[in-house]
Amino acid sequence: MTSGGWPGGSSLAPRPVAEQAGVISETRRGAVASGRPRVEARGQGGPPRPAEATGSCHPDRTRADRPDTLSIPRRLQAEGRRRKVGCANAMRYDFDRVIERKGTGSLKWDTVERSTGVADALPLWVADMDFRAPDAVLDALRARVEHGIFGYAVKTESCYRAIIGWMKRRHGWAIERGWILFSPGVVPALNLAAQAYTQPGDRVIVQTPVYYPFSTAVVNNGRELVPNTLVEEGGAYRIDFDGLEQSIDERTRMLIFCSPHNPVGRVWRRDELEKLAEICVRHRLVVVSDEIHADLAMKGHTHLPLATISPAVASLTVTCTAPNKTFNVAGLQAGNVIISNPELRDRFRAVLTNAGLTMANILALAASEAAYDHGEEWLEQLLEYLHGNYLFLRTFVEQRMPRVKVTPLEGTYLVWLDFRGCGLGDPELKSLLLQKAKVWLDAGPMFGAGGEGFQRINIACPRSILAQALERIAAAISQ
Ligand SMILES: Cc1ncc(COP(=O)(O)O)c(C=O)c1O
Repeated sequence: MTSGGWPGGSSLAPRPVAEQAGVISETRRGAVASGRPRVEARGQGGPPRPAEATGSCHPDRTRADRPDTLSIPRRLQAEGRRRKVGCANAMRYDFDRVIERKGTGSLKWDTVERSTGVADALPLWVADMDFRAPDAVLDALRARVEHGIFGYAVKTESCYRAIIGWMKRRHGWAIERGWILFSPGVVPALNLAAQAYTQPGDRVIVQTPVYYPFSTAVVNNGRELVPNTLVEEGGAYRIDFDGLEQSIDERTRMLIFCSPHNPVGRVWRRDELEKLAEICVRHRLVVVSDEIHADLAMKGHTHLPLATISPAVASLTVTCTAPNKTFNVAGLQAGNVIISNPELRDRFRAVLTNAGLTMANILALAASEAAYDHGEEWLEQLLEYLHGNYLFLRTFVEQRMPRVKVTPLEGTYLVWLDFRGCGLGDPELKSLLLQKAKVWLDAGPMFGAGGEGFQRINIACPRSILAQALERIAAAISQ
């Protein structure tokens, strides 16, 4: 199978191969260019792209040596070392490659017409990436599938070790095995946390505009939603600490914190985290810190886990992480909930048990372990590519859509675009983007107070797709 293929591709009808298009090279990063994407059909990788055209020395990663045992890690490590020697200073993964996702059961690509009524709208909304996961993850999954038995799984020691190692290496956070609980993703963990730490009618704070399942986790569980809207000044966002203090009363039990913040793209600084921690500790609020985007801090920004800020805040913090965003494995529904306080941990474990969620997904375990043990090199290249996409978008918008403002992206691959200068109401803006531009973004009001006049664009796609979407938006706006 080529790297453009889809596992089990024979049962999925191949799609036509679109023509070669203006893929923007790394050396032209930041330049405004447009291009139609080169699409590769599933199961048809097409001819390998020359290394000089893609900037990759492994443009087409055909793997003759399919693993036939589960003993992957040592072999991969050796292979990784070999590749690295051969690829000094070169892009090794080809994030420019367009891989067809239609017809693969993709939420992003296969619900376009049903959800929007516009069959050919380009979807840049939900937060998954149009890139293949790291080879180490694919190899681990293949090995697991090749084994062919998918009985009940136990959380393996090697998976715990991989999570612990990742947290230490990437975030300087020494966590213990016993602190880690598993959940089928972070959104389930937010809902379970509402059940574990609050009673019906209790008040829970979220900092809008924010990823909308924060609010639904509160409201759907019969708790009272308390928005503490972020302050925006000249396109920069900060926490309204005074507003936060004022919104806390004796019925307020919990804050769901987004760090890095989706959708405004902030990576919170130490001084901001310290202030937040101090307030939460003083009011004895449980903080559910959603750090799913932790690994996606852009150049010049460092993610700090809230629980590392002080022992006092650590004892109130429930940290939610996952390989889902980082390694594009959201469909596997892996989630790690890290809780150092035994009492909070027992309460979370109890709601997991009551929901019947004590088992682990065998494929999610394999993918998590491989990603955390062997995905670092891929991630570094991904971050570079995403940063390139962000610079590309920023330059494009500055030059071609001066009435639109780009919120600085410190982390995540979701860019918060300010369309308020276009003088349109939200329904008109939504209709312009969908009906005229034929681009599907997430509308700002979905993220709660402070989202009016904004749209969120997902830039984790090949640059040619991003260019195409931006061209469409620029043309619609200028009409
Ligand atoms: C802040 C945040 N939390 C959670 C999720 C989803 O997490 P999961 O797929 O693990 O449920 C997302 C996805 O966009 C997100 O942005």
